[in-house]
Amino acid sequence: MVAGWDVEFLPSSVLSIPQKNRLATACLSGPRTYTQRLMTRTTCFSFLFALMLLPSLHGQTPLADPHALYLDPSQPIEKRVDDLLSRMTPEEKIAMVHADSKFSTAAIPRLGIPYRWMSDGPLGVREDISHDSWNAAGHTDDYSTAMPAGICLAATWDPELAYAEGQAIGQEARARGKDIMLGPGVNIYRTPLCGRNFEYFGEDPFLSSRMAVGYIQGEQSQDISSCVKHFALNNQEFERGSIDVEIDERALREIYLPAFRAAVQEGGAWSVMGAYNQFRGQHCCENDYLLNEILKKEWGFKGLVMSDWGGAHSTRECALYGLDLEMGSSQPYNEYYLAQPYLDGIKSGEFPMSGLDDKARRNLRVMFATHVFDPGRTNGSLNTPAHQMVSRRVAEEGIVLLKNENNILPLDPAQIKTIAVIGENAVRLQAHYGGSSEIKSFYEITPLQGLVKRAGRDVNIVFSEGYEKGGSPDLADRAVAAAKAADVVIYVGGLNKDAGGDCEGADRKNFKLPYNQDELIQKIVAANPKTIVVLLGTPAEMDAWVDQVPAVLQAWYGGLEAGNALAAILFGDANPSGKLPCTIPKKLEDSPAHALGTYPGTNGVVTYKEGLLVGYRWFDTKNIAPQFPFGHGLSYTSFKYSNLKLIVDGDDDSAVVTAQFDIHNTGSRAGAEVAQLYVHENGPDLPRPEKELKGFKRVYLQPDQTVTVSIPLSKTAFGYYDPTRKSWVAQKDDFKILVGGSSRDIQLSDSFKLPATLTFN
Ligand code: BGC
Repeated sequence: MVAGWDVEFLPSSVLSIPQKNRLATACLSGPRTYTQRLMTRTTCFSFLFALMLLPSLHGQTPLADPHALYLDPSQPIEKRVDDLLSRMTPEEKIAMVHADSKFSTAAIPRLGIPYRWMSDGPLGVREDISHDSWNAAGHTDDYSTAMPAGICLAATWDPELAYAEGQAIGQEARARGKDIMLGPGVNIYRTPLCGRNFEYFGEDPFLSSRMAVGYIQGEQSQDISSCVKHFALNNQEFERGSIDVEIDERALREIYLPAFRAAVQEGGAWSVMGAYNQFRGQHCCENDYLLNEILKKEWGFKGLVMSDWGGAHSTRECALYGLDLEMGSSQPYNEYYLAQPYLDGIKSGEFPMSGLDDKARRNLRVMFATHVFDPGRTNGSLNTPAHQMVSRRVAEEGIVLLKNENNILPLDPAQIKTIAVIGENAVRLQAHYGGSSEIKSFYEITPLQGLVKRAGRDVNIVFSEGYEKGGSPDLADRAVAAAKAADVVIYVGGLNKDAGGDCEGADRKNFKLPYNQDELIQKIVAANPKTIVVLLGTPAEMDAWVDQVPAVLQAWYGGLEAGNALAAILFGDANPSGKLPCTIPKKLEDSPAHALGTYPGTNGVVTYKEGLLVGYRWFDTKNIAPQFPFGHGLSYTSFKYSNLKLIVDGDDDSAVVTAQFDIHNTGSRAGAEVAQLYVHENGPDLPRPEKELKGFKRVYLQPDQTVTVSIPLSKTAFGYYDPTRKSWVAQKDDFKILVGGSSRDIQLSDSFKLPATLTFN
């Protein structure tokens, strides 16, 4: 390994910062990006020779000791961290704990520490951003594979697929020279209006946890650190930088924290991003209770906590309350709270050196854990067919068939002469929008393109926009005429990623479809009853027309293969198998945060009065009929559940009891079913929701095939958080084990008695 040169000394007119970094890293650890691969070894070494002269010209200490312990990959990580830390000056440690550009920390050439590059996340690797501004850097090699929305991934209920997606993103991140990926986002879908629900994994803590663990393990298998975000309670975009969340301890522990806990304890996530909002009067990026007490002490997190961009607010609080890396504020980088002001505070004795050491240590630990210093670090790969295939699978398996009367779907092209495709979303590109999760996609197949390709030459497809932002009424008239003349209508509407829709920085104003789509759909279905409604984005109110249309699909945002995936589902090449990761209410006021009038808060405070009763926990406990329940999703085949057996095992940590049951494919097509297991407690000492998801399994069945499914339930499946005891309690009690195809489609149930109370953390 060669170290000790400093590409920073090259003037910016010669190389941009990312180029300098790419060159430096290429020379340090072998070519990493597409651009670097194009550089010949000779070019690399002649640059390096010139660069090695530069430190002495500038009076710097030349070259790190190539025999230093920390450079030896065979040494344990902790020893390497200790060794490197012991060689660092306070100034160098400070350089590890704050940004030096929008998405990097500084290199320390004297010690061979390269720049550390971060990228959004979580739906692929974002395009490169300029050094000091939010403008795109304008690179030509920063395209990546656009993955579907996080909520679509959650709708697959397939943690193995989440692993595959994480792995693909990790490979692309490495190919793009990144070290930390800013995702996954695991904030709970508390209100349908949150502008970032599309990035997250829905309303249930158990489902979110399983998806997060899969994603992170896949991503981190590629020498990348995931950064799970936004810790915690960032459940609305309205006043996100300041809103103070009041919530009781049980709801915090049972609903909003489990996915973070699973991410760090089971997924092994190396980084956590603090949220913008406040919790109990303290900003989450400097929140003693969340960061020091819960994350680091209780959960034993050894990685780093970074701020959301501009989420840090004071040197003192950052220094003392658990932040390890400050990112993204607008002042000069050396004036960040954790830059010169922190160094001054260390020097004056206001803050202990041990605090800085701990922060620097955590940053270094993540670098060693992801093999930043090691020769064999993975190089990754970009936009491969395999990555595109993963994206396609997620899109296809995540589409939810909500309704399919008289089996109008799948479409048979032999029976159809003309299809009217109506709706702006049929032609809109979605990947490169929505805020920080935007992806400059290698390509993106729109729904119309996918449908035209799949329908083939013998089917005439007529497109009519129907609506657009600020569109004229004759758009609707033309769409109605097209609908009348067609055999079938495929309406492709829903939300888009414009501000006020599914987009970072603001919440939706209401739960209605935008651009008068309710009226438009009603007119279209009146003109042609064979209207299939496909909604993109997160769910919206459907009450005005849902009973009139024969088929409805929720197709989210499907990434670069969105159109092909949708066409495969509509024409039956793929059998729908997605299940809702969120309840769709009939009207907004039915959902808890709105029924109780607590959204979006008053005078800067939002109180989560519904407590534990989020999503289906509310609808089921209060007996409110949703439009479509959590876990719902139809198939072109049918499944029969039978033979539930509860096998008592007695191993509290892995399986107190195992639920075993059969699923039989009773239809004529192969297809996948997601079997869901809910637990109901009969006489809890503290009130509990009617039922809670504690297990699920996705199984693929040929026609007439039967599969036996086993779902082990450990003590955690029976526990609730007891704030008085400050621990989890699985109470000696009777429980019902409920199994079925959705939270409202319980096919099997049996009782189980927990013989003794178990407490645990
Ligand atoms: C978002 C984060 C994102 C960061 C960097 C913030 O505004 O909340 O999710 O990772 O910007 O783009």
